[in-house]
Amino acid sequence: MATPAHRPPACRLRPGGVDDLDDVMRVMMAAFQPCFGEAWTRSQCAGILPMAGVTLTLAEDDDESALGFALARTIADEAELLLIAVNPSSQRRGVGQALLMHFIEQARQAGAETLHLEVRDNNPAIALYSAAGFRPAGRRRNYYSGADGTKHDAVTLKLVN
Ligand SMILES: CC(C)(COP(=O)(O)OP(=O)(O)OC[C@H]1O[C@@H](n2cnc3c(N)ncnc32)[C@H](O)[C@@H]1OP(=O)(O)O)[C@@H](O)C(=O)NCCC(=O)NCCS
Repeated sequence: MATPAHRPPACRLRPGGVDDLDDVMRVMMAAFQPCFGEAWTRSQCAGILPMAGVTLTLAEDDDESALGFALARTIADEAELLLIAVNPSSQRRGVGQALLMHFIEQARQAGAETLHLEVRDNNPAIALYSAAGFRPAGRRRNYYSGADGTKHDAVTLKLVN
């Protein structure tokens, strides 16, 4: 795996749960643009959180304000990054990279051999994933539906060791 340059810690990471849904949804609504249809609803998040193998990680600043979050699922030897988002006012300060590297470490510790994710084609987040060693492994046509009905492909990325 390629090792992206590590910056000084921009945040603290902690495990989250259903009590953090207000923070998760606040970051979600600010970070994702409705025109792409990538954001999850509160009930989708609440529904998946209690499921086996699902983990939520919160990134916080010194005042314990939520800067970002990552939602992931590990089943057997496979781990999937379901969502990652950082509040726009805190982007490009290393928070997303910290959350992504934590996902990778956590998945490896849980015994996952295959790490993958789906991302909208042309999402700038692909640069973040590529720097960590994720590479294209497939495409799902018209996977996302934007608020105006426009469809967008999803690209499946896998971590290449
Ligand atoms: C993707 C996202 C989580 C990245 O969070 P972030 O905290 O800004 O990321 P980082 O600051 O850790 O970025 C690390 C590196 O990734 C790359 N990167 C991150 N965001 C980028 C962008 N918008 N454009 C180009 N490169 C980007 C850069 O190489 C960056 O390093 P640099 O700032 O030194 O150039 C954030 O932009 C976001 O919340 N986007 C909206 C939600 C989303 O689309 N999530 C992904 C799909 S689930």
